Amino acid sequence: MAGYLDPNAANQEKAVVDASRKLRIGIIGTGWIAEQHIISYKKQPDVEIVAGADLIPGKAEAFFKKFGVEGVKTNYASHKEMLEDKSLKLDAVSICTYNRQHANCAIDSLKAGIHVLLEKPMCVTIDEAVAIMRAEKESGKVISIGFQPRLDANMKKIKEIVESGELGRIYYIQTGGGRRRGIPTPFGTTFIEDKTAGLGALADIGCYSLDMVLNAIGYPKPLTVTGYKSDFFGKDKNYVGYPKGKGAEYASLFGVDDFAAAFVRLEGDIILDFRISWAMNMDTPGDTIILGTKGGLRIPSTDCWNGTVGGPMKIYHEVAGSQVCTEIPIIPEDKSSTLFDKKIRSFLDACKGIGPVPVPTSQIIYNQAILSGIADSSRIGKEIEINIPEI
Ligand SMILES: NC(=O)c1ccc[n+]([C@@H]2O[C@H](COP(=O)([O-])OP(=O)(O)OC[C@H]3O[C@@H](n4cnc5c(N)ncnc54)[C@H](O)[C@@H]3O)[C@@H](O)[C@H]2O)c1
Repeated sequence: MAGYLDPNAANQEKAVVDASRKLRIGIIGTGWIAEQHIISYKKQPDVEIVAGADLIPGKAEAFFKKFGVEGVKTNYASHKEMLEDKSLKLDAVSICTYNRQHANCAIDSLKAGIHVLLEKPMCVTIDEAVAIMRAEKESGKVISIGFQPRLDANMKKIKEIVESGELGRIYYIQTGGGRRRGIPTPFGTTFIEDKTAGLGALADIGCYSLDMVLNAIGYPKPLTVTGYKSDFFGKDKNYVGYPKGKGAEYASLFGVDDFAAAFVRLEGDIILDFRISWAMNMDTPGDTIILGTKGGLRIPSTDCWNGTVGGPMKIYHEVAGSQVCTEIPIIPEDKSSTLFDKKIRSFLDACKGIGPVPVPTSQIIYNQAILSGIADSSRIGKEIEINIPEI
């Protein structure tokens, strides 16, 4: 019997995978995140990893060797060459490139008739997001965006609480989070250079904070954004988090945001107050709170985005005139399958047509519109309207 892992179900029963129908997989970009993909692909009985490409010569070959996957074709100078190799008969690709290479790799893959698991953030600009969705529509292929934290049971609980009606009508959300000193440069500069990353903390972890709350409330359309972003820490050659001896070089290469804040109006008269940080002189920019007419939910922040909530959530509400607080216990981690396993499995099921697209572009385009809206608003120093063209 074949079954699928419903990525949105509260209790996920173990599905029996139909291993007789194998999917031929390619990986584009073989850096850190690709490692999480291959670890999870290797656990799936219906997957054959057949190809990989990286812009850095020899990197893809070394990657598959490290993970003991043999017979993988890697002699491609770019993702395009790999996609053009019809002998591969690729069913799906994981796109694990840096942000600036998300849109073109996704569009080229969809145009080649291949399903896509695209790492987060969806891309850098709203125009790119629209182009991805147009390619998706024309191709009829599956594309899912790599937001695995939303597959965590505690994150799902947020959506269940909102949908239960316990909070009443939602009218205000404060979300975000971040780090005191945590600009991600352990593996080089691809997260901090404009030519590779395009956006900094905003796209790296801000997209998760937005997804946590927007997914819970059904992804209403953003209408206007007043955004701010800064780079005081990234541009400082004495920033303590840079590798020894690299401060001056990294500071001069830093071309993205290390902090961002925004005030966003959402459809349905909901206000979203957002702030995100890779570096700041504060322990946390605050918990996530969702205010409703019947109850308010406090979601403790984590000191770094690790894919779940930072502690037991609390609902503040009124019972017979008394102000009470209900604690929602933390749901323990599912030791049988990681969030990456769930992300890969639910994507494969969508490719096979036996499950929904786990994280659809129809939602994430609003996430992207806010990210790129913050960047645009910050640039011109004014509120902007979000206009997404017909797709
Ligand atoms: N879902 C998660 O938990 C998670 C965690 C970390 C990173 N990410 C995302 O994954 C992406 C990659 O992150 P990373 O840490 O692996 O970065 P990385 O810089 O270590 O690796 C990216 C790799 O892609 C290659 N590449 C870029 N463009 C290419 C192209 N057109 N064809 C072939 N190869 C190409 C680069 O040469 C590099 O080796 C980022 O967008 C990041 O936001 C997601």
